[in-house]
Parts: sequence; C-alpha cells; structure tokens
Amino acid sequence: MADNYLEKRYEETLGSQRPKVKRVGPNLDQLLVRARSCRGYNKNYRVSRAELERIVGACTKIGSAKNQQVLRFRLVTQGPEADLINANIKLGGLLPELHLPLPGTEPEAFIVACTNATANNYTYIDLGMALQTMMLKISEMGLSGLIIGAFNKTEIKAGLNLNHEPLMVLAVGKGAEQFQLVPVAEGHDLAYYREGGTHYVPKLSATDLIINS
Ligand SMILES: Cc1cc2nc3c(=O)[nH]c(=O)nc-3n(C[C@H](O)[C@H](O)[C@H](O)COP(=O)(O)O)c2cc1C
Repeated sequence: MADNYLEKRYEETLGSQRPKVKRVGPNLDQLLVRARSCRGYNKNYRVSRAELERIVGACTKIGSAKNQQVLRFRLVTQGPEADLINANIKLGGLLPELHLPLPGTEPEAFIVACTNATANNYTYIDLGMALQTMMLKISEMGLSGLIIGAFNKTEIKAGLNLNHEPLMVLAVGKGAEQFQLVPVAEGHDLAYYREGGTHYVPKLSATDLIINS
C-alpha cells in the first residue's frame, strides 16, 4: 500500500470535512536509514548531558533477558574525559589510510555502556538491543552516532574511574558526513568505502537474508 493511500482516500471521500491528520515524524524505515555509523562530527554543535540522558532513557522501554537490566551507562560530554576516550578508540578500521576521524571532526559526547554483573551471552544480547535502540533515538533527535567496539578497555575504565565493566562505547554528535546504502547480492564485497566524499555502505537484500526452505 502506498504510504499516503489512506490520506488520499480520506481526501476523496470526505474532502474538506476530513479530520485533521496529525503529522507524525519519520517512520521506522526512515530512522533506520538515517542511523548510519558516523565517523565525522560538526563540533559547532555541543551535545548536552540532557540529550545523552534522553538517549539512555530509550533503554527504559526495551526488553532484557529475564528483565535483569544489567546495563549501566556512563555519560561523557566535551572536555578531558572526551579527550581521553578519543585517544582510546579506533574508527573506520576498514579504511586505515584515512585515519578517521578527520582532524576537527572528532566526536565529543559519548555513552559508555557497562554492566554491573559478570557478562554472559544474554548481557551481549541486551547490549546489542540497547545500542540499536539508542542509535534510533539519536536518529530521531536529528543527531548521529557510532557504536565502537574497538576501544582500550583498561584505559577507559581507569580514566573514567568506572566501577563497572565497560562493554561498548557509543559516540554521539551532529553528523558531518554523507551516506549512501548500496544494495548488494550475497558474495559481494561488504566492506564500506568512500568515494567523492560519500561513505557507501553495502547491504544485503532481504531475499539474501531469508533462508530458502
Ligand atoms: C558491535 C559493533 C561494533 C562496532 N565497532 C566499531 C568500531 O570500533 N569502529 C568503527 O569505526 N565502527 C564500528 N562499528 C560500526 C560498523 O563498522 C558499521 O555498523 C558498519 O560499517 C555498517 O555501517 P552502518 O552502521 O552505517 O550500517 C561497529 C558496529 C557494531 C554493530
């Protein structure tokens, strides 16, 4: 069904009597497409602690194995702690020659996802759900983010005085990059690449994701 089918039908049958259709924000597909991994940020925009709190707030509405909710989040905004994180993360490992982030576009706000328990498989499933949920919230807020697994755990744990085990770092900021998803077939090179200032991300189609019965 076309996106605006119902709206059109209202118009045809009720004309001007139709009830006002409340404009809603972007739909889930649009948020997902916008929620690209961003490795370059506009530093003129300073992400506030309140914004990071709203992003973490999205995690209060999601599932959790046995509802144990073992994840905890440390918020970092611009300053020495952000500098420490920047010195201990690795961005764009598939494009080492670019040394991302480009100078002057480093992220300056972070959410460090930790656990207050011994991590097990369910912790990592909760973690993935929380990170993707936060990426969607970030996208809804008109910001961009990056999930970062390549970080120096020891340095970040010590530098931030964490009593919890850091599991993953999420960078947040105003994105300064152009993206394009590229539909590709199974077997195609899946490495992201850059051309003419655009970051291209190959994605398999649903047909390739579904197992043939
Ligand atoms: C669990 C996980 C860990 C990741 N770690 C890093 C990382 O350390 N550095 C980085 O630049 N990107 C990292 N990424 C981002 C991926 O490279 C990115 O998701 C992938 O290239 C696809 O791009 P997309 O997110 O725009 O779809 C990570 C993503 C996930 C889900």
